[in-house]
Amino acid sequence: MADIENLQDGKNFYLDVPHRNPTFELKGCGSLEWGMKNRLARIFDPRDGRTLMLAIDHGYFQGPTTGLERIDVVIPPLLPFADALMSTRGALRSSIPADVQRAIVLRTSGGQSILKELSNELVAVDIDDAIRLNASALAVQVYIGGVHEHESIRNLSRVTNEGNRYGIPTLAVTGVGKELTRDARYLGLATRICAEMGAHVVKTYFCEKDFERVAAGCPVPLVIAGGKKLPEPEALQMAYRAIQAGAAGVDMGRNIFQCEAPAAMIQAVRSVVHGQETAARAYEHYLSLKAEPRSCEYAQR
Ligand code: R5P
Repeated sequence: MADIENLQDGKNFYLDVPHRNPTFELKGCGSLEWGMKNRLARIFDPRDGRTLMLAIDHGYFQGPTTGLERIDVVIPPLLPFADALMSTRGALRSSIPADVQRAIVLRTSGGQSILKELSNELVAVDIDDAIRLNASALAVQVYIGGVHEHESIRNLSRVTNEGNRYGIPTLAVTGVGKELTRDARYLGLATRICAEMGAHVVKTYFCEKDFERVAAGCPVPLVIAGGKKLPEPEALQMAYRAIQAGAAGVDMGRNIFQCEAPAAMIQAVRSVVHGQETAARAYEHYLSLKAEPRSCEYAQR
């Protein structure tokens, strides 16, 4: 019983230092439980409250999406440059190394394909499987104004309730049907509903006009999807403008993995999200990394 034999009186009580109650600065998340905050801090870098989430969940309704035909080959080299990976459980278990040191945002809704009505989703992943996969957040799609709006809000409620029981935050993904306009009024409506229903993070699209109103009206962190592949300067400009207007980061897929040089592009996006770089400087960064592929192989976050 060496511990008892060598027991000494404690003396470093810092009697002149009041107990510190740590604050948690992430937007709208200060009152959450410790486990929730800890998981959110794995997704959003506590140094700046921002995230670069790499989205690779497209196959859940699109099948083998261009750029994701071989997730096991294409995605692992990009992971050192991401804060979080948004994935289906199938892609995770089959193609992502289990020793990945990045937060996992697990897609939990699905149940349709591009051949049918997109808003017709169900909750496809139970909370116990999400826990087994060590998910840092649960992602669920919400279709405000869509054919199955009510069911998708019900999915959000169910996933949020289950996540709350175990301290796992929910990312609401606002899906926009072809018939809906992606303007600030619509996006403001959709994102606010998601937050009020209890989502801890909301993902939406960028809009050219008044995006700052969308961000301000959403009381929790907002991240933007990249959307369809754009020329690199435009994708970087979109990310830059979204961050300047109040987004807490990006959840970007096609504009990274469909790029000619994905490892260079993810680092350029990272420099906008975390490095305060302008889109023009980030594009220069992209070009120089693209010209020197070995720098992408070995550079680490
Ligand atoms: C939607 O299908 C998925 O949730 C994607 O993760 C999302 O659209 C982000 O990917 P992208 O940047 O390719 O739009």
